[in-house]
Amino acid sequence: MRNLIDILDFSTEELDALISVADDIIENPDKYREVCRGKILGTLFFEPSTRTRLSFTSAMMSLGGQVLGFDNAGSSSVAKGETVADTVRMVSAYSDIIAMRHPKEGAPIAASAVATVPVINAGDGGHFHPTQTLTDLLTIHRKCGRFEGLTVGVCGDLKYGRTVHSLIAAMSRYEGVRFVLISPDELKLPDYVKEQFLDSTGCEYTESRDLEGAIPELDILYMTRIQRERFSSEAEYEKLKDSYILNRGKLSGAKPTLSVMHPLPRVNEIDVDVDDDPRAHYFDQAAYGRYIRMALILFLLDTKGIDDKRQIGEESDSLVCDNPHCLSLSERGIKKLFSGGRCIYCDQRARRI
Ligand code: NCD
Repeated sequence: MRNLIDILDFSTEELDALISVADDIIENPDKYREVCRGKILGTLFFEPSTRTRLSFTSAMMSLGGQVLGFDNAGSSSVAKGETVADTVRMVSAYSDIIAMRHPKEGAPIAASAVATVPVINAGDGGHFHPTQTLTDLLTIHRKCGRFEGLTVGVCGDLKYGRTVHSLIAAMSRYEGVRFVLISPDELKLPDYVKEQFLDSTGCEYTESRDLEGAIPELDILYMTRIQRERFSSEAEYEKLKDSYILNRGKLSGAKPTLSVMHPLPRVNEIDVDVDDDPRAHYFDQAAYGRYIRMALILFLLDTKGIDDKRQIGEESDSLVCDNPHCLSLSERGIKKLFSGGRCIYCDQRARRI
């Protein structure tokens, strides 16, 4: 059985196959209307969501299946102190596939360790968001026609923006991709993302604070929201919240073929005057989320009997995860596991004790 915890759980060939199925679903939706009849998707959203949860729900309903779940931790037994593992064990018995979102990093790995059905990470804290990346890849494929050789600007909250981390992991595998990482100094891409996906692959990148200066060279501009809910200080958020606001004027020096993307929700970082520009692709991007999630559900339901390729890691008496947002520090009974000096749940470097 396969899961989708991290976008790198899928090879580029598997991603190509998912994109082909999504293209076919867009062209021939009738073909797929009954293919999941009798199947149930469990949606466990311990953290707020609009697009991701509703597009998963729409995806399963469009395949003829049904959906159960909750949309905030307060309405589940988590409010009574239940662990992620116990909740997921139960829901495994009530559904055929699970999509989960959790504020703690690494929660989907803990879930997949006990689940008896495929688990999909629909966002874990500020760590990863692989199904948003599937949506992003389908958008890039449909708007740019290729992945290779693209110059990709990612702008905004690169520190806490989980969509950015997964997008960089995925795109760094394609030949000739170059990143321009645009953020305030306080919100730069974390070292664990740089080390694992850029430095180790030799993928070219530059860091900048200047959005306007970077725009002319970009093929893709991926704007992101400053992730207010991850800040420990409201004052710090207030200081950084309007760091970048894209408007029509700033696009005047951009390539005519630029693709402006955003995982949404936007707060203030793209002015509504950009919405009518033919290069604004963020609403199409949101729409594509339904089709690629249909393709993903079909793929994962088909993988019973196939081994998950994920490395499990080893327990260690001398290491502790150094990331206060990691589930491994708060979940009762969880095995603390490490691989190559990193916590396997959140990918951050572990500390020696
Ligand atoms: C993103 C998320 O939840 O990380 N939203 C989404 O899933 N489309 C981006 C965000 O919240 O800023």
